[in-house]
Amino acid sequence: MKLAVLTETRPGERRVALVPDVVKRLTSEGWQVVVQAGAGASAAFPDDAYRNAGATIAPDAAASLSGAAAVVAVNFISAEQAQLVGDGTVMLSFLQPAASVEALKVLADKRATVFSFDLVPRISRAQGMDALSSQATVSGYRAGLSGAEHLAKFFPMFMTAAGTVPPAKVLVMGVGVAGLQAIATARRLGAVVRAYDVRAAAKEEAESLGATFVDLNVSAEGTGGYARELTEDELARQRQALAAEVAASDVVITTAAVPGRPAPKLVTAEMVSGMGPGSIVIDMAADSGGNCELTVAGEDVVHGGTTIVGMANPPAGMPTHASFLFSRNVQNLLALLSKDGELAPDWEDEIVIGTCVLRDGEPTLGPTAELLGRPMTAIRETVPGEAAAPDGEVDA
Ligand code: NAI
Repeated sequence: MKLAVLTETRPGERRVALVPDVVKRLTSEGWQVVVQAGAGASAAFPDDAYRNAGATIAPDAAASLSGAAAVVAVNFISAEQAQLVGDGTVMLSFLQPAASVEALKVLADKRATVFSFDLVPRISRAQGMDALSSQATVSGYRAGLSGAEHLAKFFPMFMTAAGTVPPAKVLVMGVGVAGLQAIATARRLGAVVRAYDVRAAAKEEAESLGATFVDLNVSAEGTGGYARELTEDELARQRQALAAEVAASDVVITTAAVPGRPAPKLVTAEMVSGMGPGSIVIDMAADSGGNCELTVAGEDVVHGGTTIVGMANPPAGMPTHASFLFSRNVQNLLALLSKDGELAPDWEDEIVIGTCVLRDGEPTLGPTAELLGRPMTAIRETVPGEAAAPDGEVDA
């Protein structure tokens, strides 16, 4: 079975879908891995490392894809790349359907089967395939570091002969996988950390990492452990209560997200105006619209004395380990989809069902079918009590 790894085409992307270590494991399991030349270069994995791991290096996307039974990528492939994919190919990657309609249409015509890492169910058995979590871990770590790097002050307290420096005050908003990692990173560097989330469960998790939880009495538990979107009234109450917290912080790190929705706007321009000179906002949700009104993805915006850092594609900023973790997620999903060295998805398995977007070219989820203007063919009827998978449309 031939497995193709392509060079990512998203601007600024430095990750690769498979690292040599995982290629070695896959080739020992019988996969024939073909890697496009230079695919791992920006993640510090040269072509020779792939050769040594048992892969073949192909000069371009067309040669990589020729005869491939499966294609793995971090970001969904472009419409041009999709034209090169063979009939009936299986595709594994992150996918925001609304951003990839043309490529999806091409793949639907080619009766491809597409699995999206955005849709891996949050159940224990799927944890090894949960690329949203593995990449959020990288993002949260980078957000913590970015706060320390941008602030013109120490994070830890220093008692020196020249005087005593108080620790930096960091506020983390959104305590999911990324937020917890941002808290841990800021704490490791010695900052005093406060944290806020609309899910009650986040309190204990934040406290276990040494943060003080800010309770605003606005609760918005959604389904599957996620938050729901706040009403306008709740959002207004939240903003009012958060203003003092934001004003008292040297660094605000925002990671709040609601699946399938634009990022909630938690920090207004007025709240930023209330922050002290030299203060920093690190907005990790910049790609999905930002948690701060002033955020511009990929840019540092200066407002009064505050700098708002719009982190674009945060995991791409630490591509070696982001790729390593993503590769392990790919390996685990491939293992689930294979039997006796052949691709043979078990269409009764809830992870297979939940993750599939196209099956033999047929859209299996309502929102994707609507985007493609084609009828939806559910893999099976939703079992009573089982939540339907969200059709991920927000960036990872
Ligand atoms: P996410 O990336 O969807 O959102 C980040 C955080 O933003 C969440 O904690 C959410 O509650 C918060 N948020 C949303 N709207 C907000 C608002 N208006 N104000 C403040 N905060 C807001 O979250 P992520 O990291 O994907 O985690 C979601 C849940 O899934 C968590 O409960 C996490 O523990 C759970 N999880 C479970 C896994 C498993 O069982 N296999 C794996 C990974 C996460």
